[in-house]
Amino acid sequence: MKAVAIQTFGGPEGLAVIDLPAPIPADGQVLIAAEAIGVGGVDVMLRSGALAAYGFKEGHVPGNEVAGTVTAVGNGVDTSWIGRRVWAYTGVGGGYAEQAIAPVEEIVPLPAELSAVEAVTLGTSGMVAHFGLSHAHFAAGESVLVRGAAGSIGIMTVQLAARGGAGAVAVTTSSTERGDRLRKLGATHVLGRSGEGGEDAPAGYDVIIDIVAGPDMPSFLDKLNPNGRMVAVGVVGGPPPADFGMNMMVAFQKSMSFATFSADTVSEPDRRAVKTEQFAAASRGELQTVVHDVLPLEQAVLAHQKMDTGEVFGRIVLTP
Ligand SMILES: NC(=O)c1ccc[n+]([C@@H]2O[C@H](COP(=O)([O-])OP(=O)(O)OC[C@H]3O[C@@H](n4cnc5c(N)ncnc54)[C@H](OP(=O)(O)O)[C@@H]3O)[C@@H](O)[C@H]2O)c1
Repeated sequence: MKAVAIQTFGGPEGLAVIDLPAPIPADGQVLIAAEAIGVGGVDVMLRSGALAAYGFKEGHVPGNEVAGTVTAVGNGVDTSWIGRRVWAYTGVGGGYAEQAIAPVEEIVPLPAELSAVEAVTLGTSGMVAHFGLSHAHFAAGESVLVRGAAGSIGIMTVQLAARGGAGAVAVTTSSTERGDRLRKLGATHVLGRSGEGGEDAPAGYDVIIDIVAGPDMPSFLDKLNPNGRMVAVGVVGGPPPADFGMNMMVAFQKSMSFATFSADTVSEPDRRAVKTEQFAAASRGELQTVVHDVLPLEQAVLAHQKMDTGEVFGRIVLTP
């Protein structure tokens, strides 16, 4: 079968189309004929070699999110899965391929009305957005700031905060055009990347969902209201300064909180329940899936070039 591997760590040109034997599902696993493959920030990090210290080697097939049809199952898996359309988390890799393996507990059936492309656009990002907001104890009526809102997680966080009755949903983004698109998804105020602008924006926020981190993170802690909560769900801007927590200590009387959130700490049944609910909501048109581009698997290099330039608004999807 056709697959794409990271032949050489570094730039997008290190990705190459290769031929691999079709995988065979082991006990508890399913084989999926992929119709759509999500391209995520972690794929870019893997390709760059930034995760080599964690044991990832050249030759690795990236991709952790696919949607398609189950074509075979391993021992212990109900054969009624065969022929069903599913979304799947494939784990640390193996997604950039015509066929992928996933543990049966990591697959979620798709409503007939939801396309595979929509499913991989929504799957992980919608789930992270949901649990990021709940980790921040977000409640209706509260003001929310989504930092780095133009990516797949941010776009879903904006929609879920608006749908959850937020009093205000501010976003940071790098262009007016992106700000206008985010307003159509539920943003009420648009700020620049450093939090500048948005004259009519709230002076403080009850919840900040931060996908960026990086050097500007401490200044966003200053934007929390008393009892405000910031939850870091991503680090696309790199790590924050080592002393970023000083901004909270200096404002001790505001009783603010900072937390990280990783979906790794959510149980598999809870993740699956949220994905099932979100796939149903998307199929009813209640959640928008924002697809930046759909490219053939062979054009994975182009997909990664687009990721590297920062032009992606939403999700890039590959199709075998
Ligand atoms: N918590 C979890 O369980 C979990 C699960 C999966 C992934 N993740 C993490 O989520 C992140 C990827 O999320 P994503 O795909 O939604 O993000 P993304 O698309 O990579 O980036 C989101 C937005 O951030 C802005 N941005 C990029 N670099 C920036 C910088 N240096 N300073 C300020 N803004 C910047 C860009 O928008 P503008 O140009 O409009 O500003 C970009 O569109 C990764 O860090 C990944 O590890 C977390």
